[in-house]
Amino acid sequence: MHYARNTWYVAAWTADLDMSKPTGLRILGERIVLFRTESGKLVALEDRCVHRLAPLSLGRCEGERLRCMYHGILFDSDGAVSEIPGQDVIPRDAKVRAYPVVDRHGWVWVWMGDPALAYEATIPATIGTDNPDYLMGHGFLDYDCAAHLISENLLDFSHIGYVHADSFPQGDQMAKTHADIRPIDQGIRYRRWVENLASDAAGFPAEPLDHYMEYDYVIPGILMMHIAGFPLGTAKSLEFGSPDLANAVRDLTFTGQAVTPIDEHTTRYFFCYGMHRDFGTEQMIEPMMQLVRKAFAEDKVMIEAQQKVIDETPDPRMIPTSHDRSITMYNRMLDKMIRDETERQAVA
Ligand code: FES
Ligand SMILES: [Fe+2]
Repeated sequence: MHYARNTWYVAAWTADLDMSKPTGLRILGERIVLFRTESGKLVALEDRCVHRLAPLSLGRCEGERLRCMYHGILFDSDGAVSEIPGQDVIPRDAKVRAYPVVDRHGWVWVWMGDPALAYEATIPATIGTDNPDYLMGHGFLDYDCAAHLISENLLDFSHIGYVHADSFPQGDQMAKTHADIRPIDQGIRYRRWVENLASDAAGFPAEPLDHYMEYDYVIPGILMMHIAGFPLGTAKSLEFGSPDLANAVRDLTFTGQAVTPIDEHTTRYFFCYGMHRDFGTEQMIEPMMQLVRKAFAEDKVMIEAQQKVIDETPDPRMIPTSHDRSITMYNRMLDKMIRDETERQAVA
């Protein structure tokens, strides 16, 4: 599989986890069981019992441990077997893999690579459902496609006027002009103005404003985007440079999105969308979520159909356009990271 391993992948929304029992999921084709111990520690283990390979996600949480509910073997939170019913000796290699796991910004992040390299400080500083300054809705969608096709969609917003012709009001402005795109650590930064936009953050007609949009897209597929409305003429007065978001007059929104490969052919797409409390009310969130859910469904139709065509094409070559610059930039960084990981592994 062509994926980076030494990075944090979003595994779940913390709010969606059932704390009373283990949860099974897959990332990069690996089965993982998530559970919370009695003392509140979040644990991620390989979801495969050492005995006869039953899934531990069908198991039972017992204090700080997890019991396989096939024949009762008990696992510590580090993956080691601590009890085999009816047997005193525990084989030395009776252990499942434990993954570094962190609960942050409303998401559960799992480190898929070398645990010695897992630094919590490298978790992207996104705004999540737990942020007191934002009113947020959240969800996820599963796609029948490879993760890179979703990343490539998120790296090139020129599709907005076409895929989302019915949902977003920007029209083909996004395709006919270019955003400011530059490389940052682990990804790209995208910035642009849409002048004189006569609709609010939920897509309803409203007093026209200049809208500024800025997002970072970082490995392994995390999008963090602010949009904010400013008085007409602001874009020109700043010579299309970056504004201070604190001066926004309306529509200060944030969306965090994460693209997590379940395996080579399926991908889980997590998203939250929210309005800054200074500009919004609880009642505004559901119409915003309806709009983004509709838009994501539009992306899903196009991307899954694209995947089918790619699969049926013997030699799928693509001709890039000028809008693909961010895709090329990001994919180069990701390819280099994967190459470096492979080389390091070969040396080890
Ligand atoms: S398969 Fe888990 S105890 Fe037998
Ligand atoms: Fe889209």
